[in-house]
Amino acid sequence: MTPEDFSTYFDTCRVRVEKVLHRQLPKESLIPTILHSAMRYSALAPGKRVRPFLVYATGQAIGAQVDRLDAPAAAVELIHAFSLVHDDLPAMDDDDLRRGRPTCHKAFDEATAILVGDALQTLAFQLLASDNSGTTAEKRLKMVELLAVASGSRGMAGGQALDMDAENRELDLPQLENVHIHKTGALIRACVNMACLTSEKLPATAATRLDHYAKCIGLAFQIRDDILDVESDTDTLGKTQGKDMAQNKATYPALLGLDGAHRKAEELIDDAVESLSDFDNNADALRQLAIFIVQRNR
Ligand code: IPE
Ligand code: IPE
Ligand code: MG
Ligand code: MG
Ligand code: MG
Repeated sequence: MTPEDFSTYFDTCRVRVEKVLHRQLPKESLIPTILHSAMRYSALAPGKRVRPFLVYATGQAIGAQVDRLDAPAAAVELIHAFSLVHDDLPAMDDDDLRRGRPTCHKAFDEATAILVGDALQTLAFQLLASDNSGTTAEKRLKMVELLAVASGSRGMAGGQALDMDAENRELDLPQLENVHIHKTGALIRACVNMACLTSEKLPATAATRLDHYAKCIGLAFQIRDDILDVESDTDTLGKTQGKDMAQNKATYPALLGLDGAHRKAEELIDDAVESLSDFDNNADALRQLAIFIVQRNR
């Protein structure tokens, strides 16, 4: 797969999941119109759609039917969008800019932003529960469980709690890793594991290798996010640069320095790619995604 093919495939998946999101998000004209406008404003804003892509690319690696991937791809993006809306609230990171636009609570108000989070989260589970693409009820129930655990106090929400608790406090490396694998890694891991559930008979070893890949890229993803907060600029990021240092956040650059953070991210990507060594060319998108994660500029 050439870099151009990868980029085309990434775009195809983005367009595909955005169509699903468009269709599934309640129309702005529907009461309560402000809540529905705000949900669409946040979820359809120009994000990278890395998590849906990971669902599709995992499906491709294991020969899954693509239409069975739409529900988990859209569901995880809805959870992610909800996590961003709440992450930006004044009580959390207090950010004004997200995806190049005013944050939800700035464009609307705080109460609306809280409700947008509630409603995007529940819509995610609705999509999985009502999906009729052919994934069995048993498998969809497993997906619901996986995504719930990954989003809740033992996953993303728990990681966010640890992140908030760590402000103005020194963490050691294992503690910092623990924050990152929960606040960001858990959802990324859920993408791969939900995609694995759409395959009829995936060997257990293949599922384990993919899970290891996901753990590595999940941590690398947040390390890169920490690095970009230092190295990039607000225009490119679409969010305010330098926020982590301003808020005394626990980050990899703060603990290991920029060189150390870069090195750690690279090591994780090598490990991720290594864990795909038994997979054929159909896993090339996953291989390139790992590299994209540490080279991206936003
Ligand atoms: C930002 O995620 C928040 C983190 C978990 C690091 P993304 O970098 O995927 O944000 P979007 O979806 O492209 O806006
Ligand atoms: C966010 O981490 C993780 C989430 C669960 C949203 P950050 O707080 O670093 O994400 P950004 O930099 O605001 O996107
Ligand atoms: Mg945060
Ligand atoms: Mg933040
Ligand atoms: Mg960040």
